[in-house]
Amino acid sequence: MILVFIGPPGAGKGTQAAKLTKRFGIPQIATGDMLRARKAAGTLPQDLAEIMSAGGLLPDSAVVGLIRDRIAEPDCAKGFILDGFPRTKGQAEALDAMLKEIGRDLDRVLFLQVPDTLIVERIVNRRVCVSTGEVFHLMYSPPPPGREVKQRDDDTEEKVRRRLTEYANTFQALRQHYGSLVREVDGTGNIEEVSSRISQAIEA
Ligand code: AP5
Ligand code: MG
Repeated sequence: MILVFIGPPGAGKGTQAAKLTKRFGIPQIATGDMLRARKAAGTLPQDLAEIMSAGGLLPDSAVVGLIRDRIAEPDCAKGFILDGFPRTKGQAEALDAMLKEIGRDLDRVLFLQVPDTLIVERIVNRRVCVSTGEVFHLMYSPPPPGREVKQRDDDTEEKVRRRLTEYANTFQALRQHYGSLVREVDGTGNIEEVSSRISQAIEA
């Protein structure tokens, strides 16, 4: 099974991909998480780190190679879930070429839809576990007591506006590119409700 999650910041891509990872036993591949790990380790070039912190999109060349290497790893043999990649038509074309090389097909492209008014509230209340990377929300899925959590540096209201604009500029091209593989999923409601809609969309 190869799935792609596309959606605005805070739509729940990471939350839902993590649930499917457990269900299908296939890894979640999140370019945002991979880039943040490199940034924290000091191995992401400074100009790219600054674009990320400001809520802009990195050039395709900065992410395509990461995905190429990652999907060649043995744990991806049964499939994988892409979270936050592809984000541009160029990235989608690069992914098509990579999959063709290894003789694999995408199963579904899930577009999570959440109105901008809900996004900001989800983003500013998000917290991420320092040791495991698990994603929490201060009200809807609070971290367990004693867990050390932090806020992402791009999770401010101002930066989320920039990220929403980047999404608005790119998602239509992806929808057109993927055509009949696309399933639109209502991302409002609680995490379990969205999860059950995703299960239906995968089977439909
Ligand atoms: P990335 O990390 O992918 O950020 P994003 O796309 O902005 O998405 P988020 O991670 O913010 O949201 P999410 O949809 O995963 O939501 P989550 O599940 O956490 O990318 C960051 C940056 O890296 C980009 O801006 C760019 O600079 C760079 N980058 C990454 N990939 C790139 C690429 N391919 N090309 C170029 N640049 C790239 O949920 C959010 C919050 O809501 C959480 O608190 C969660 O608990 C809560 N929540 C989730 N679902 C629900 C629900 N149903 N009800 C209530 N709360 C919920
Ligand atoms: Mg995410």
